[in-house]
Amino acid sequence: MMWRIFLSLVLAAVVLQGTEPLSDEDGPLVLDYYREQCPLAEEIVSRSVAVAVAKDPRMAASLLRLHFHDCFVMGCDASVLLDSYGGITSEKQAGPNHKSLRGFKVVDEIKYLLEEACPGTVSCADILALAARDAVALRGGPRWNVWLGRRDSLEASFSGANQFIPAPNSSLETLIANFKQQGLDIGDLVALSGSHTMGKAQCLSFRQRVYDVQLRGEYELHDKYKRYTTFRRILRSICPESGRDHELAPLDHQTPTRFDNLYYINLLQGKGLLGSDNVLVTQDDEGEIVKQVWAYASNEKLFFASFAESMIKMGNINVLTGSHGEIRKNCRFVNT
Ligand code: HEM
Ligand SMILES: *[C@@H]1O[C@H](CO)[C@@H](O)[C@H](O)[C@H]1NC(C)=O
Repeated sequence: MMWRIFLSLVLAAVVLQGTEPLSDEDGPLVLDYYREQCPLAEEIVSRSVAVAVAKDPRMAASLLRLHFHDCFVMGCDASVLLDSYGGITSEKQAGPNHKSLRGFKVVDEIKYLLEEACPGTVSCADILALAARDAVALRGGPRWNVWLGRRDSLEASFSGANQFIPAPNSSLETLIANFKQQGLDIGDLVALSGSHTMGKAQCLSFRQRVYDVQLRGEYELHDKYKRYTTFRRILRSICPESGRDHELAPLDHQTPTRFDNLYYINLLQGKGLLGSDNVLVTQDDEGEIVKQVWAYASNEKLFFASFAESMIKMGNINVLTGSHGEIRKNCRFVNT
């Protein structure tokens, strides 16, 4: 009797294994995709990212953001890497990207090494997904599995970049709608916003947040805390009401280069740098988001697990696989 139960369990397990897709994310991507064709691919990416981040710690943030800006415009297809050429108007010229996105040269270097090792094999879109993962891990954040096999787009979308990359002065409602368009929910919005635990923003990205009474209004309450007032005074000294548009401030004033959960502690103290950070706690009428912010602020492990899960989800947005797209030889141009 026991035997029969045991046997049927084993059989069931075997059958299940046979029908389960390789990826437990249920997407078209695959773990260890380059094992046969380019066994060193992941290693080449991680070493290059480590070198780049050692030279410039902010590069970790920049590479993470690059993957985000890729995925939100036509999906994770490296469209963001294309330069203007022929019929293509580069997404790099779009409002949210111009004089702001960084890391293109690092991606070029990685692609160069990969083309040396295994020509025409590893997509630029996969490079972005891997580099983002490695960048986060290098600064003390979580590590997650990256399902691979993305192919590169044959086009870019300048208008898409203007339309789909959220603006720092968006309302909470707009941010939620923006993420929803990408198949991401409020939980993903709150977890992925935690990316702003590292990197920098320009004065023009947070000016409205430190001067505009409307944006400030809801947390006027905090003014009685001197620390908060000091925070705003410092930001105003970095970023005057006009001019010095490109002056930089850290997104996380406490640990600007570490990937940790201090972003959420900042939010609760009214010290999120961008308007889009602050609205998570100031415009959350139902209180669900604030609850999540509290949870992440008090439990870094929980934040790391949610972040990893949401990054995998983001990395699956509208990926090109099979016969769609191509493997670009140069990430800046479609193959001729
Ligand atoms: C929720 C909506 C979001 C808005 C409105 C937003 C907006 C911004 C803005 C305005 C900047 C500064 C750009 C500049 O001044 O040059 C920035 C920086 C950054 N963002 Fe976001 N972002 C959002 C979500 C995300 C997500 C989902 C990620 C990653 C998964 C991310 C990662 C980053 C990183 C790492 C930086 C710093 C980049 C660097 O230092 O080079 N952001 N973001
Ligand atoms: C957000 O900023 C842009 C560019 O500075 C501006 O045109 C727009 O009116 C602002 N939107 C809101 C809701 O304040």
